[in-house]
Amino acid sequence: MLYLSTSAQDIHTAVELLQSGQQVALPTETVYGLAADASNPQAVRGIFEAKGRPADHPLIVHLATAEWMSLWASHVPEIAWRLAEVFWPGPLTLVLPVASTVTPLVTGGQPTVALRVPAHPVMQAVLKQLGKGLAAPSANPFGQISPTTAAHVRRHLQGRIAAVVDGGPCGVGIESTILDLSGERPTILRPGAITADMLKPYLQVVDKPAVDAPRVPGSLASHYAPRTPCFRIAPDFDHQPMPGQQIGVLAMSPPSWPIAHFWQMPAEPEAYAQALYAMLHEADSAGCDALFIVLPPQTPAWLAVLDRVNRATREFS
Ligand code: TXA
Ligand code: MG
Repeated sequence: MLYLSTSAQDIHTAVELLQSGQQVALPTETVYGLAADASNPQAVRGIFEAKGRPADHPLIVHLATAEWMSLWASHVPEIAWRLAEVFWPGPLTLVLPVASTVTPLVTGGQPTVALRVPAHPVMQAVLKQLGKGLAAPSANPFGQISPTTAAHVRRHLQGRIAAVVDGGPCGVGIESTILDLSGERPTILRPGAITADMLKPYLQVVDKPAVDAPRVPGSLASHYAPRTPCFRIAPDFDHQPMPGQQIGVLAMSPPSWPIAHFWQMPAEPEAYAQALYAMLHEADSAGCDALFIVLPPQTPAWLAVLDRVNRATREFS
C-alpha cells in the first residue's frame, strides 16, 4: 500500500490509481473514506472486497460540486439545491431518487442514492482532477471503528488497497448526517455534525426511524465496535475490578475506583466527536480486559456522539 502525502505529485498519483479502477483511502472532514470510481462497477466491487462489507449495503457517492447531483439523481427537489447551497461542502449526505444510469452496486439495488460534497481540500482536489463521482464508505473493515487518521487506515487495510493519502486527522471525526429526501417526509437516517436544529430553518425533519432500519448499516446496533469488550456506564457508576483485571476508562474526568488506563474526553460535543474514534483506536490497542465509556449528557447537542457511543458499546450488567 502506497503512503501518499498531500503534495501535487502525490495527489496526481492518487487520481491515476482511481482512474485505473483501484481503491484509494482519502481524508474527508468527517472520517477517512475508501474511494473508488463510482461509475466503474469493478472498482466499486473492490471497495466491498477490501472492507469485507455485505454487497447489499449502499455507498455514499462524493461529488466535487452540487451541480453533479443531476448526474446521479433522477430528480433533484428544490430543497436539495437549497440545502446544498447552505451546507455543502460539508458533513451532510442527501438521499435522493437514483438516476437510471447508476450501477446498482452503489445503491445496493435500492431506488435511491446517497450524495455528498465533502469539504476536505484533498478530497476536493481529487474529485476535481478526476472529474467523476467517488463512491466512498468509511475506510475501515466492516463493523469496526471508523478511521480518523491515515495511520488507522494503514493498520486495518494494509495490503488490501492501493494507497492512502495522509491529510492529517479529520476535523469532524464522526460520519456525516444522512438526510433522506426521497420519501414523503424528510428523515434523518444517521445523526451527525449537521443537527436537526440546524436543518430546521429550511425544512421540518423527523428523526430516524427504529434502530434496525436495514438501509443504513451504520444503524446496526453493534457497528463501530472495538475488539476489546466495551461497555457504557453512567457517570456515578462504581466498580471494584477483580485482582489483575485491566480496565480502561474513557470519560471527562477520572473515576474514583481503581483503573489501569484513563483517556480524558473533551467536555464539548464537537471536540468529543473529533476525538472519539481516535481514542477508541488507541484504547483498543492498549491491551485492556475491558473498556468503559462514561456516557456524555443525554441532551440534543450530544445526539450524534451518543449514537456512536451506544453503537460502540454494550450496556454493563
Ligand atoms: O461521513 C461520511 O458519510 C463518510 C465519509 C467517508 O464520507 N462515509 C460513510 O460511509 O460513513 P459509510 O458507507 O460508512 O456509511 C454510508 C451510509 C451507510 O449507513 C449506508 O447505508 C447509507 O450511508 N446509505 C448509502 N446509500 C443509501 C441510500 N440510498 N439510502 C439510505 N442510506 C444509504
Ligand atoms: Mg462506516
